[in-house]
Amino acid sequence: MHQPFNAVLQASKLGDDSAMIEHARLIWKEGNHRKAIQSLQGAIANNAFGSHNQDIADDATGIEGNHQQNLLAARAHLLLAKWLDNAGQTHSTALRAQYQRAAQLHQTWERGHYYLGRHYNKLLESEKALPPELQAQPYLTGEMARLIIENYLRSLNYGTKYVYQTLPRVLTLWLDLGMQVTQPIDPRYGTKEFIAKLQQFKKEQLASLHTRFNKYIHKMPAYIFYTALSQIVARIAHPNPEVYRYLEDIIVKVVTAHPQQALWNLLAVSTSTQLERKSRGGLILRTLISSSKKTYAGGMDLRTMIEKGQKLSQQLLHACTAGEFSSNRTHLASITKDLGFNPKYCCPSPLAVPVESALTATLPTLTDSVRTHKAFSRDVITIAGFRDEVMVLSSLQKPRKLTARGSDGRSYGLLCKPKDDLRKDQRLMEFNSMINRSLKRDAESSKRQLYIKTYAVTPLNEECGIIEWVDGLKTLRDIILGFYKVMGVTPNYAELRILLDEANKSEDKLPVYADKVFSQFPPVFHQWFVQQFPEPSAWFGARLKYTRSCAVMSMVGTILGLGDRHGENILFEEGNGGTFHVDFNCLFDKGLTFQQPERVPFRLTQNMVDAMGVYGYEGPFRTSCELTLKLLRQHEETLMTILEAFVYDPTLDLLESKGKKKRERESAQQKVPNTPQGVLDSIRRKVRGLLVGESVPLGVEGQVDELIKQATSEKNLVAMYIGWCAFF
Ligand SMILES: Nc1ncnc2c1ncn2[C@@H]1O[C@H](COP(=O)(O)OP(=O)(O)O)[C@@H](O)[C@H]1O
Ligand SMILES: [Mg+2]
Repeated sequence: MHQPFNAVLQASKLGDDSAMIEHARLIWKEGNHRKAIQSLQGAIANNAFGSHNQDIADDATGIEGNHQQNLLAARAHLLLAKWLDNAGQTHSTALRAQYQRAAQLHQTWERGHYYLGRHYNKLLESEKALPPELQAQPYLTGEMARLIIENYLRSLNYGTKYVYQTLPRVLTLWLDLGMQVTQPIDPRYGTKEFIAKLQQFKKEQLASLHTRFNKYIHKMPAYIFYTALSQIVARIAHPNPEVYRYLEDIIVKVVTAHPQQALWNLLAVSTSTQLERKSRGGLILRTLISSSKKTYAGGMDLRTMIEKGQKLSQQLLHACTAGEFSSNRTHLASITKDLGFNPKYCCPSPLAVPVESALTATLPTLTDSVRTHKAFSRDVITIAGFRDEVMVLSSLQKPRKLTARGSDGRSYGLLCKPKDDLRKDQRLMEFNSMINRSLKRDAESSKRQLYIKTYAVTPLNEECGIIEWVDGLKTLRDIILGFYKVMGVTPNYAELRILLDEANKSEDKLPVYADKVFSQFPPVFHQWFVQQFPEPSAWFGARLKYTRSCAVMSMVGTILGLGDRHGENILFEEGNGGTFHVDFNCLFDKGLTFQQPERVPFRLTQNMVDAMGVYGYEGPFRTSCELTLKLLRQHEETLMTILEAFVYDPTLDLLESKGKKKRERESAQQKVPNTPQGVLDSIRRKVRGLLVGESVPLGVEGQVDELIKQATSEKNLVAMYIGWCAFF
């Protein structure tokens, strides 16, 4: 610690004012929190940031010098606010004033506004948890929500660093407020007069927000909204006409700026199976056609682009369901003859190939370039045509893999899936991307290159969609059964079922029967790594990559309650050994409601452990699990914001309560939440390390240990349905 202290001292002697901040920071790091706060307060009181600690109403007129100075003062004030917050001893009014001061001192600083908004958000969350009679006025009137939104928007106005935290939250709060004013208020909140007043207040807050939106929607670059487009488009059928008007403005703005990417989203609602969504989607398309005079690459106008896009999306929708395929083997078919898909009719298409590299907007690295930043490359890869050959997969719905030819001459596999609402998968991929960003930013996890492999998911409507086909993958099932075949081991499912049933009957019988099952399948997965990566350093690297990526997804999957991890939903990258999960249908502990409830939190069967090397799950697997879980805990707020945006999305029937005669989301062992709030609470509990029914949280290590125990428990494994193949 001496060295940094000396360095800071030296810097301070040389007149570097930021040294004061660094000095206080070092004291904080040493654990001397009170002293650190005092030191920083002292520096501020002594005007250590000199002339800089001045109120400048309008930063834009400030000279460069002032700019820097104010930034320094703002940084000092923000740091102080965070420390006071952390220490938990400051009165809330004073704390708020401290955050406000930081934001005001340097008004073009995205960070200051973000933290002020976040502070309000914290207040809102704690009010929300109170019973109605205790909730404070600013919460009830929507004022708090408005303050969060305003500060987050201000932050977004000056930079994109927090866009994934702020924008989804802004949208959720706004759409929610817009909804509230259309609905009667719960009479528990008070007398008729009081309720009428509340409603009036809410309307005013919303109106005030909308005046601001006029400015921001116009000013903010389209790509910022593009990052949340799926959330925006999902709410297109919002019942409040005022709110809808702004949704439309935003969508029109994004599609006009980036039609080749954004049209995919919009076309999916215009072919919606829900009437309201379909008609609003159509409405926006018409607005676009009549309002835009812009010409795009290739001299195309928006009308032509939309018409061509519609043709393509219709053909693709058709291709998802057309044809009668009954074979339970993967086989080849013809796109024209078997699927009735006519490439000449819809190609070449101006739409971007629906793969991650073409559909992901980049963000500016420098704050200065927020307005001029180009979020997509100039040479968008579009769909030139399709190959005739189609691969029809063997699984139940017979998904079919088409091969598109890109305008760059390369081939792109597109898996067309029928009878699957891919909007869930799409939002989940966005969630995974968020996790990836955190994994990359953290020193420990980025050193280990922890990541989740993601791919583009493009819904075509609520029932069909396209998945980017990633080449060079092999399913766990294929790998394992391949080795067993060579060894002459063939699973006899009828016999296995009987043994598993016996094992399930009583604790006494469990060891005997479990052994009869598991011993038939000696672990073989390590052989795949030897075979696939004959060169020792590649083999070592691949094994490590497998182990680590398996750990990350195990933790993220647990938090999300992701189930159905059978041998065809876990794949491996043949080039580097990385784990690749597909099929995110079974979410939020839905597996617990299966007839045979899934009791393991993730797949850690004998073969999965076998490939991790001699230490099994004790080595890098456990470490990476701990790192990931720690990170998830650190980012609880962001994580919950993103999840909230889609758990509360009324258009996604995530809990599948409707239709299927309100299925009891309940299992023998535990209650499975069946409301959005219930789902969020259960996720939050998991993030915090609270086991079911417990009120004292486990530390990260303790939780990982418990999860590994659950995942490898013979009792849990033998209870899995037979197709899950707990024995391999
Ligand atoms: N993005 C992808 N890249 C490559 N192969 C994939 C991808 N997604 C799915 N697959 C393959 O397609 C199979 C079926 O996909 P899945 O989404 O699981 O459909 P289903 O709902 O029919 O089970 C998977 O088992 C996997 O082998
Ligand atoms: Mg599957």
